[in-house]
Amino acid sequence: MQVNILQTPDEVIQKLAEDIVELARAAVSENRLFTMALSGGSSPKKLYQLLASEPLASKFPWSDTLFFFGDERYVPQDDPANNAKMAREAMLTAASVPENHILAVNTSVSPAEAAKQYEEQIKGHFTEPVFDLILLGLGDDSHTASLFPHTKVLAETEALVKEVKMLHDNSWRITMTRTLINHARHIFFLTYGKNKAIAVHNVLEGERYEFQFPAQFIDPTAGELRWYIDVEAASRLERTRYA
Ligand code: 6PG
Repeated sequence: MQVNILQTPDEVIQKLAEDIVELARAAVSENRLFTMALSGGSSPKKLYQLLASEPLASKFPWSDTLFFFGDERYVPQDDPANNAKMAREAMLTAASVPENHILAVNTSVSPAEAAKQYEEQIKGHFTEPVFDLILLGLGDDSHTASLFPHTKVLAETEALVKEVKMLHDNSWRITMTRTLINHARHIFFLTYGKNKAIAVHNVLEGERYEFQFPAQFIDPTAGELRWYIDVEAASRLERTRYA
């Protein structure tokens, strides 16, 4: 596991963007599509804007990349809370990504049907569901994607995508499961800010209690895990070095 700790959020985002471009170009140089699952929330928005602006935009292989979503809020595509909407507005539209390269969750059906359809859609693009890169955020409660503490989906090991009923407001989300995420070749966490420091400590150094700290479930079966964090988010870490 590689933990990149940089001084400011902008430095974190710059390094992550450069590393993503390098990964995408390497995949495409092997004559195959680069498959990437985007994370939602607010942290990645500046990353997406940076990738879609020069000098990185002309280096990124947009037409050779398939964009999926690690999770989605169960809201209409045009709802401000929709992760795909945020990604389109921050990056995909500006980069003129072909519509058939944006694989968004269909939230116009029931949550269970949306999860089932998304799993089928993913399976339709892979012989083995192994993403080149899955980008993840971290909630201050140590959730990632929509793998929230003490939710049933944490125990799911067969399905690749599941619906999740949020305990606090009965809303729904659709999420990639830990099984699918852990199959990825590369898993990158992006998190920054003081409000994430306790979660970062709990996940990286806390007691092993995955149902309380779900991001602890993220452990690639054969791939690579990297963290991209700023000094504020790292401020509760006791260990100074990570392998
Ligand atoms: C979502 C994300 C979620 C997010 C964390 C952190 O749909 O919200 O997938 O897992 O990454 O909640 O969100 P922030 O970046 O907004 O702090």
